[in-house]
Amino acid sequence: MNLPIASLERVGTADREDFRSAVLAGLASAARAIPARFLYDARGSALFDAICELPEYYLTRTETAILGGSASEIAQRAGPGCVLVEFGSGSSVKSRLLLDAMPDLDAYVPIDISREHLDETAARLRRDYPKLRVEPVSADYMALDSLPAFINGARRIGFFPGSTIGNLTPEEATAFLRRARRLLRDDGALILGVDLKKNSQRLHDAYNDAAGVTAQFTLNLLRRMNRELDATFDLAAFAHEAFYNSIEGRIEIYFRSLRPQTVTVSGRRFAFAAGERIHTEYSYKYDDDGIAALAASGGFAIAKTWTDPERLFAVAWLQAAA
Ligand code: AVI
Repeated sequence: MNLPIASLERVGTADREDFRSAVLAGLASAARAIPARFLYDARGSALFDAICELPEYYLTRTETAILGGSASEIAQRAGPGCVLVEFGSGSSVKSRLLLDAMPDLDAYVPIDISREHLDETAARLRRDYPKLRVEPVSADYMALDSLPAFINGARRIGFFPGSTIGNLTPEEATAFLRRARRLLRDDGALILGVDLKKNSQRLHDAYNDAAGVTAQFTLNLLRRMNRELDATFDLAAFAHEAFYNSIEGRIEIYFRSLRPQTVTVSGRRFAFAAGERIHTEYSYKYDDDGIAALAASGGFAIAKTWTDPERLFAVAWLQAAA
């Protein structure tokens, strides 16, 4: 059901206030940071789609190939009559690989914070899979406590692809897995897409593409603050910076001030030193032991891992542990 226009406007205002308070708090703190979720306005989402097509950004096409090759084995593990629950479904592109291999699925439950996105995706899926029951849930999956009651008897298989887990700190990732474990119940499982540790140059290149699309994606946050928060960022006076921190096992992404400058955001002034960095994203990379430890911390055990010949990316079947 679509929200009436008046509530959509209220949701919009709440989103704007959420953005404003996160930015003001993030710029006022000693280690300046703006949460990565604000990178995804309409332009940011389109830029991320473009990133997924870049030659340097191996993640999306590698995971897609792994899922394509393992979908029938995944379907066998799931068994007939189960419910596929996707956390952060977006346009459900990768889930189609699973849906194609799972004709006996009881239902598909895409969870996404964007009601609009969800409704459009559900309509397309119902058209393309007329026999499939599609039951979208509009929610923040990091704060969701229950799933629709109609799936109570069915086995629940979670799906969290795209290395989205990598954008969570290990503490946040554990909290997410614990929540997923509760929602998926004792006989459930989670299909998890994880980017693997590898040669640092390969990782560096994936977040510093030659065409500069990732830089545009980072700097789009400044553009968004200018538009939505009456900010005065000069886009030419900041640069995208991304590097692999091998000690922490993560890509770190910032925008860096190229000169001393003062910027106004929602009427508040913030001074930036030359070279000062404002953090926007982490993208954690895991090895086999790291995935196993992460799974265990969330109440799961790895039952099977599929990977590509270069071992760039892994798709893991995490079984709910007793
Ligand atoms: C969405 N997420 C998995 C991407 C990543 O690789 O961490 C976000 C991204 N940021 C810059 N490039 C891609």
